[in-house]
Amino acid sequence: MDLNEEQRKVLELLKKDSYEEVRVKTGWSKGRIYELALRTGARKTEARIRERQEERRRRQLETLEALVNATVKADVLDFLDGIPDNSLAMHFTSPPYNVGKQYGDCPAADAMRFTYYHGWLMQVISEMSRTLKPGGVVCLNVGKTRDWEDRLMPLDVLLYEDLRRAGLTFQSRIIWTVAHGLTPKHRLAERHETVLVFSKGEVARFNPNACRVPQKQPGKRAFKDPNRGALSGNPLGAFPTDVWSDIAQAKHNHPDRALGNHPAQFPVKLVKRAILLYTLPGEPVCDCFVGSGSTAVAAVETGRGFVGADLFYEDLRAKRIANAKPDSFTPLTGVTDESVAVWQAEARRVAHEASSINSSADRRMCEEFGLGVA
Ligand SMILES: C[S@@+](CC[C@H](N)C(=O)[O-])C[C@H]1O[C@@H](n2cnc3c(N)ncnc32)[C@H](O)[C@@H]1O
Repeated sequence: MDLNEEQRKVLELLKKDSYEEVRVKTGWSKGRIYELALRTGARKTEARIRERQEERRRRQLETLEALVNATVKADVLDFLDGIPDNSLAMHFTSPPYNVGKQYGDCPAADAMRFTYYHGWLMQVISEMSRTLKPGGVVCLNVGKTRDWEDRLMPLDVLLYEDLRRAGLTFQSRIIWTVAHGLTPKHRLAERHETVLVFSKGEVARFNPNACRVPQKQPGKRAFKDPNRGALSGNPLGAFPTDVWSDIAQAKHNHPDRALGNHPAQFPVKLVKRAILLYTLPGEPVCDCFVGSGSTAVAAVETGRGFVGADLFYEDLRAKRIANAKPDSFTPLTGVTDESVAVWQAEARRVAHEASSINSSADRRMCEEFGLGVA
């Protein structure tokens, strides 16, 4: 590129001086300096931007290597900043509800000004979206908060639009019914929390069989043709719904509290169900408010990887994670003794009808296995 003496001098100065300093020294307007810098690829900030990106990428890889299957004591946004784009299969977390709970030794962690709190959660959601793989899911377990006028507000309502604005797609709003909660005098007693499920694009995995629920009448049969007489329900259980009523809160003497207490612990069973529904073994699950480590324990038990952070509770987490063991056998939740019995009876009936029993060996085998021979 042909440059005159004056232009070369400006570019030389730009290597060490700011635009303002170059303006004063040369009498050029800032726009003119900027235009020259842009045209010659010498924009002062470009090198710095590139450097920052490199730095960030290196730091993210380092962090990830150090983090996989570990949790750290860190602020949520610092932690998420270190996670590379599109790297996690699932975020399962429960943020502070901003209702004045005492976490660790910091009363401020759950007592922010409402506007600040909301903006902070929006940043967390945006980071969760960035770090999620396409097809991955975010599960947010939330209750209620207080708005700027101290009015009660459901957090799922507050955060719904923020999740959508972060580019995520609504999947489900799970109602987790609980036995204990507030019983205020002038409104209904609070007996549920919600888990919002959003995905990044189309959901990559959905495995309902792992989470089927017991059929109400496992032996029920169709009474109309063409399936007349056949079992009408699936013996593996009914299709799972968005109301989860069989998961006890992690309170008082719950086994999840055997190694220590956290003021707002959710049960491992809650996370495990979501992990089984939306991920495969080996995939990385993240909880950026991991607290007592419930998500990490659920990930170990189901053979998933995990990463997580919290400002406090690192000792409790370390103990719980060390104590957790992979579940080599995760029972199918929808299968009951009764449905198994019906299933076996059905298998016999079908075997009997379908087989043509003509040899004496066949007959002997059927008698041995109790498959009644006509
Ligand atoms: C609702 S609790 C989550 C408990 C967790 N699900 C469990 O089962 O133990 C919220 C957690 O967020 C943590 N926390 C609050 N502010 C934080 C911040 N800025 N960065 C990271 N963690 C934070 C608290 O210490 C608390 O453990």
